Amino acid sequence: MEDFMIKNIIEKYDTPIYVFDINILKQRIKYLKEHLSDKIKLCYAVKANTFIVNELSDDIERLEVCSPGEYKICHEQNVPQEKIVISGVYKTPSEIENMIVNSPKIGRYTIESLEQLELLDELSKKYNIKLNILLRLTSGNQFGVNEEDIENIIKNRDKYRKLNFVGIQYFSGTQKKSTKKIFRELDYLDNFINQLKTNYEFNVEELEYGGGFAVNYFDGHEFDEVTYLEEISKMFENLKYDGKIILELGRSISASCGSYLTKVVDKKTNKDENYAILDGGINQLVYFGQVMAMKFPYYDIYPKRQKEDIKKWNLMGSLCTVNDILVKQLPVSNLQLGDVFIFKNTGAYCMTECIALFLSRDLPKVALIKGDKIELVRNSIETYVLNMCNENKNIERKEIKNG
Ligand SMILES: Cc1ncc(COP(=O)(O)O)c(C=O)c1O
Repeated sequence: MEDFMIKNIIEKYDTPIYVFDINILKQRIKYLKEHLSDKIKLCYAVKANTFIVNELSDDIERLEVCSPGEYKICHEQNVPQEKIVISGVYKTPSEIENMIVNSPKIGRYTIESLEQLELLDELSKKYNIKLNILLRLTSGNQFGVNEEDIENIIKNRDKYRKLNFVGIQYFSGTQKKSTKKIFRELDYLDNFINQLKTNYEFNVEELEYGGGFAVNYFDGHEFDEVTYLEEISKMFENLKYDGKIILELGRSISASCGSYLTKVVDKKTNKDENYAILDGGINQLVYFGQVMAMKFPYYDIYPKRQKEDIKKWNLMGSLCTVNDILVKQLPVSNLQLGDVFIFKNTGAYCMTECIALFLSRDLPKVALIKGDKIELVRNSIETYVLNMCNENKNIERKEIKNG
């Protein structure tokens, strides 16, 4: 982020704050498209960052939505229904029914269990609506179903009059730095798709593959992304399967657009260790792969300074736990109260996977940068109300009634 932009944000909104730069997001999508085979279309896994759905829906083919909350966000932000893929292990039957009624043009539903299949079958008939279905193949965990289940569904596909089985969805994990694992998975999927064709004359039209592509977060832990994307592209090009390929990506799309700004509010030296206390902490920021705060995330410091009077500082948050460390032993030049740390690559999961309710501290503000404008899209939110007995008598009456 440019210095004048950081200055403006701090002066106008103060810290802590998450900033998502839509210019960087758009550049990132363009970069991915340029470095991936033309055969590949992008689907954004909304869970990575829900603040940007509106900004990227024009630039990508689909958005994967895994919970009623994520669906409501997309619905309220006017994301085109056709682009939405409803996925994820559990939504109540009434929540699924609401989606079908309120958004009849939803693009795809994934099947994560035989119960979900029955439910979608029933609802499709009840509302006389054709639903496009992706069958999620498990990678050996609670998600998706077995190969045999998929084969059985395909064998009996005529039974599901209103379900249009368009293909397979597969996701096996995140932050995959090794292309070997991706290669093994694609080979396995290629064979499985071929088997469905040979055994059941079923043509998979779409393969939606959750790539789990890796992101560089820490100084000294870089990998060569250009070669990585090139190798993966080649793998897709070499598949026997020649249908549509959709890559479901979260962190690889949105991580780079995010910055988290937090300020030094106190400092001390205890038993020869330097501690800078920040107005944020692990309740507001979590990096995938950070271990005991030992790795150095990419960051800037504002105001900028010369490399002089360098000391090692432990950057601590404001929680009541010794574990509230953002970085250990970070060499910083001439650290002062009021200095702002700008943690980079924090546009995916960093703000939602943390222990936000601990100590009842407020949630940070959120701003978007669009062109040269800054737009505040969420004010800070008090969490103490979520951590206290609610005096609203409606809750009491409901509980008595249910009991
Ligand atoms: C089904 C599915 N697809 C895609 C993703 C996105 O993964 P990533 O952020 O690693 O790209 C996830 C993440 O949990 C997922 O569960």
